[in-house]
Amino acid sequence: MTNELLYLAGGLGAVAVAGLTVGLVTPRLLSVETVAIASCLPDHRPTGTRFIHISDYHFEQMLVSEEKLTQAIDRADPEAILFTGDLFGYASSATKALESLRRVAGTRPVFMCLGNHEYKAYRISTAPAGEPDSVDSYMEHARSLGFTIARYGLWEHARHNIVAVDDYRANSQDLALYKANIQQQLLQTNPELPTILLCHSPATAGIIANMDLPYAHRPHMILCGHYHGGQVDLPGHPEYIHFRRELAMLPRHFRGLKVHNHIPVYVSRGLGCVVLPLRFASTPEITIIQS
Ligand SMILES: [Fe+2]
Repeated sequence: MTNELLYLAGGLGAVAVAGLTVGLVTPRLLSVETVAIASCLPDHRPTGTRFIHISDYHFEQMLVSEEKLTQAIDRADPEAILFTGDLFGYASSATKALESLRRVAGTRPVFMCLGNHEYKAYRISTAPAGEPDSVDSYMEHARSLGFTIARYGLWEHARHNIVAVDDYRANSQDLALYKANIQQQLLQTNPELPTILLCHSPATAGIIANMDLPYAHRPHMILCGHYHGGQVDLPGHPEYIHFRRELAMLPRHFRGLKVHNHIPVYVSRGLGCVVLPLRFASTPEITIIQS
């Protein structure tokens, strides 16, 4: 092998080691983002309320320390935690994951919707004795621990409508019924209050953005996650482009804030990992929602 080839191999090896190191360290970092509804919805009158949005906890591969999370949430001092699904990946983890989320949330109310992984957990794994053994019994268990969760739910809290919507994938076989269920929730919101809608997949936001809704019942903010900001987000976003196939996907919206048809949609990078405990150019996040 010539000297040039040796240098090239050494250089590529060094880049690979550096990339892997960054990839292993990043899942342990935490970024606190802030989004103000009024910044993207000019007719929103700020209420001075703060929420914390958390998504994609993935308990089994969540490497941000609970201490770091607790401190960040305490500093933000929100009225409530808004969680948009994918709490755990295996049926055996449900209770431990809920207990972990409770420790970081403290005594604050936690409003939750379901993600695709809550459904998948009960398809691919069996719950040990004493653990919830279905999505329904998981939700019942969560409620017994003080969480507010539903497939479709509407609650008034801190002068806001909080709406929870079921996961897109769990409903992709009957999108007409899914759309009708979402519409039913939104039409029941109190038109005097701003509405924050929780769903797991940005595909659900795509459906809502194209719905014919009366102005007073449109969400003021849709919160979601699901894509992990690409998780290993290489140039050209190959993870998003090649592995994400939902029909209602919003074009190239896999992280951050964008406004679709006058509805602000925030896509969190989430906290945990799937497949491998690696993240690249996609730091775990929690988000302060200023309303
Ligand atoms: Fe996820």
